[in-house]
Amino acid sequence: MQKIDVRSAYLDFFKSKGHEVIESAPLVPNDATLLFTNAGMVPFKSIFTGEIPRPNPPIRTSCQTCIRAGGKHNDLDNVGYTARHHTFFEMLGNFSFGEYFKQNAISYAWEFVTEVLKLPKDKLYVTVHEKDDEAFEIWKQHIEESRIYKFGDKDNFWAMGDTGPCGPCSEIFYDQGEEHFNTDEDYMGGDGDRFLEIWNLVFMQFERSSDGKMTPLPKPSIDTGMGLERVSAIMEGKFSNYDSNLFMPYIEEVAKLCGKPYEYESGASYRVISDHIRSVTFLLAQGTTFDKEGRGYVLRRILRRAVRHGYLLGIKKPFMHKLVDKVCEMMGSHYTYLNNKKDSIKEQILLEEERFFSTISSGLELFNEELKNTKDVFSGDVAFKLYDTYGFPLDLTADMLRDKGMVVDEARFDELMNEQKTRAKAAWKGSGDKSQKGDFKELLEQYNQNEFIGYSTLSSKSKILAILDDNFKITDKLQPNQEGWVMFDKTPFYAQSGGQCGDSGVIKDKAIVLDTQKFHGLNLSLVKTNGTLAQNESVVLEVSEDRHEIARHHSATHLLHAALRKILGSHITQAGSSVEATKLRFDFSHPKALTADELTQIENYVNQAIIKGANANVEIMDLQSAKDSGAIALFGEKYEDDVRVLSFGDVSKELCGGTHVKNINEIGSFFITKESGVSAGVRRIEAVCSNAATNFAKEIRAELEEIRAELKTNQPIVNIKKLKDEIRSLKDELKNSGRSKSIKLDDVNGIKFGVEVIENGDIKSLIDDIKNANSSVAVMLIQPKEDKILVAAGVKNANIKAGEWVKQVAQTLGGNGGGRDDFATAGGKDISKIPDAQKVAVEFAKEKLK
Ligand code: SER
Repeated sequence: MQKIDVRSAYLDFFKSKGHEVIESAPLVPNDATLLFTNAGMVPFKSIFTGEIPRPNPPIRTSCQTCIRAGGKHNDLDNVGYTARHHTFFEMLGNFSFGEYFKQNAISYAWEFVTEVLKLPKDKLYVTVHEKDDEAFEIWKQHIEESRIYKFGDKDNFWAMGDTGPCGPCSEIFYDQGEEHFNTDEDYMGGDGDRFLEIWNLVFMQFERSSDGKMTPLPKPSIDTGMGLERVSAIMEGKFSNYDSNLFMPYIEEVAKLCGKPYEYESGASYRVISDHIRSVTFLLAQGTTFDKEGRGYVLRRILRRAVRHGYLLGIKKPFMHKLVDKVCEMMGSHYTYLNNKKDSIKEQILLEEERFFSTISSGLELFNEELKNTKDVFSGDVAFKLYDTYGFPLDLTADMLRDKGMVVDEARFDELMNEQKTRAKAAWKGSGDKSQKGDFKELLEQYNQNEFIGYSTLSSKSKILAILDDNFKITDKLQPNQEGWVMFDKTPFYAQSGGQCGDSGVIKDKAIVLDTQKFHGLNLSLVKTNGTLAQNESVVLEVSEDRHEIARHHSATHLLHAALRKILGSHITQAGSSVEATKLRFDFSHPKALTADELTQIENYVNQAIIKGANANVEIMDLQSAKDSGAIALFGEKYEDDVRVLSFGDVSKELCGGTHVKNINEIGSFFITKESGVSAGVRRIEAVCSNAATNFAKEIRAELEEIRAELKTNQPIVNIKKLKDEIRSLKDELKNSGRSKSIKLDDVNGIKFGVEVIENGDIKSLIDDIKNANSSVAVMLIQPKEDKILVAAGVKNANIKAGEWVKQVAQTLGGNGGGRDDFATAGGKDISKIPDAQKVAVEFAKEKLK
């Protein structure tokens, strides 16, 4: 077969047919009903359903990165064990939004397969939905009838998820040859590998709602999907995707790491790792981070599954991070954003691997122990313990049981997991957001988009085009004291986006504007009325003065971003931001906490830039030229074809639709108020500028004044040091106060003798001191502590055995003790007996010293 770069051949082919080539959208879709982008059509869902107008031209093509590891299309369990399944893959597709339908979709597909890929016609088969006579007839124009198969919904009906666009489909199959595949399942429609589906043409005709109802789409459309990996394998004459050049380089790396050569038959673990490193790298590169729930948990599951397979190959220390270089080398020229994130991706993986490696062997021990008690069904309680205590995701445990033919008691596991599971789902399932059901389509159809004029002005005379109530349903007026959303023909109110909060303000004499948000590109303000507000009314809009402060914080955010890249490195990528009138927050990927020195450098860099000053310069250019010019673009941000590039001198250049200062001088000063971690590999800086910075400084000064007043000094630091010294010496004094107390000693036949009760001090060292100071001595000290009594006795050149002496005394005190002849200690309990004990001690000693 000819050598061909399938990805570019596909995109070029459809470009030549008038399709606009679209970049791959993010793996995390802008769609609460989906966990990950699982097909090429996902980014176009709202166009298919008619929620937003058709683009021009209404035909597009893309090579979309997809993840199928959760949700409706979940291939995770199969990956490694079959020739075709992947968690991460690239899907080539062509899309028509109400433009061409079955006729063209089929003839384009046939032309590409037979004339560009030049796949032999006698190896091709197609399927159609059993009720789709139209597709059947069209195919007959290209291929013999005997090669067209009809199947039902199971094979030939495609849906994105439980809800959303769907329709009958037609698939193209490639026959890999009877000589290679000849099992009972190797027939068209069977489960064998001989007939390989290479392209799915979906004839999008319906939208399925959550109650299962199918509503015809406004315009029948086309969505096709061709798996890049499988077609590349065919073009290389390989029977498994993993044998192709897209995967073998990873497999060879894994073989090097474990020191054992790869063989297909026993090589599932190699394949699992080769697949999983791609998903993990792409998800991290696009800002998903390891987490306990939601998408971050899927990411964790994928990594841990790979680590466990490495473990099976004998790799007993972190290794996945070492494979990131290979992914960047193989895919970085097309997905360029991988390259500058490389180091931070590696560090995040390493941290996560270390975390898992610290529990994996104890987890495996528990697993193996339980295996001895297992016949067919592995205990759900142990599976839960493995999950909860050792970090083994359920599918990892299931995977470990797979080749033993056993399964987990999932019902029991689910029971135990219920609480966490609900939480995980809540992270991504539809939030019940009222705005999802709003009348936006009507607004778009009637008015298209409204104009934002707030870059240059904070007030305007505008007309109310439409009003929505607080359920987002169109209404013609709002009553006094009612809340609702208002669409103006032109508006100076900035709708929240790019981290910048929405504007507030007033509709003069009519209402207060509480917030402004964007819905499907429409700029709508949330208002609370004083009087009535009606459609078509002319009104005066005034944006709150806060906007100046918001702009300053937004521009400061750009400077901070630039400073981070300058001081920490170009791997810094924005992971989130929030810009308000009184503070800013910036999240970014970086593997470890920033040092005090780094924070100072960053703060200095920003402040120096502000002092130097630079005018804001805004240019509108096409996305590619913007990126080529070095402007920072955010991953996953949906940009229009023409983008707004904002630069401040040579300090910062970013794609940004936000509102900013005219010159960065206006920012005033900038203080970092906090640095913290958000999740593994993501840090957060909080900062203030302008008035908020002044207030911040004022608060600190007020605090300092209070400290000064409290300390009654202008030099609090000197004073605090002095106070600390004083405290230290007082403490010492207290400790030694017993010591300094003079112990009264009598002279009994030339021997210094004393029995004393002392409250403070260390009686053992006091006795040492006394013994050192006298040549013949017999001394006992008794010290009451809260609820016990300590006794110590020291004897030198005298006829008393200290051990016996303390024993007598201890008995009286309700305790016991003993020790050497020259030194002994005892403990007692009954504090009321101390005077008696003292008496006993004196009598005992005097007897001996006679
Ligand atoms: N959406 C269809 C699929 O994923 C065709 O692109 O197979």
